[in-house]
Amino acid sequence: MAGNITFTMIKPKAMANGHMGNILSKIIEGGFKIKAMKLTRLTKEQAMEFYAVHKERPFYNGLTDFMSSGPIIAAVLEKENAVQAYRDYIGATNPAEAAEGTIRALYGTDIEANAVHGSDSDENAVIESSFFFAKREWV
Ligand code: CMP
Repeated sequence: MAGNITFTMIKPKAMANGHMGNILSKIIEGGFKIKAMKLTRLTKEQAMEFYAVHKERPFYNGLTDFMSSGPIIAAVLEKENAVQAYRDYIGATNPAEAAEGTIRALYGTDIEANAVHGSDSDENAVIESSFFFAKREWV
């Protein structure tokens, strides 16, 4: 199981701009299997907890305001070497630097509203998936 799972969120601005269908299609086209998925919304406190690793960073308050500003889609994805494969597939954190055709290049507008989140390690993929889903929903 470890190594085959990553966690993603479609962020509020991509949702508000109506890109959720296209983003989900891209995820599936990329060979990622959706193991669990929900449309939900974070409170400011939940966004602060989710992004607690960034709490000393200058963008933490703005990022957590933004991530609690509207509905999101949270999903657990499965693919071989899922964390790195998905990071490559979505592109660089800053959409302006993301490779052509990647999800962030296509649907991100700035470094905060960069369309989607992707886990940065196998360990965080499990922690982040467990933040949103019961184990029985994705294991
Ligand atoms: P994400 O993959 O959700 O993980 C952490 C997020 O912090 C990242 O995407 C960006 O949206 C955001 N982020 C990272 N660096 C910056 C920055 N310099 N300014 C604003 N937001 C940032």
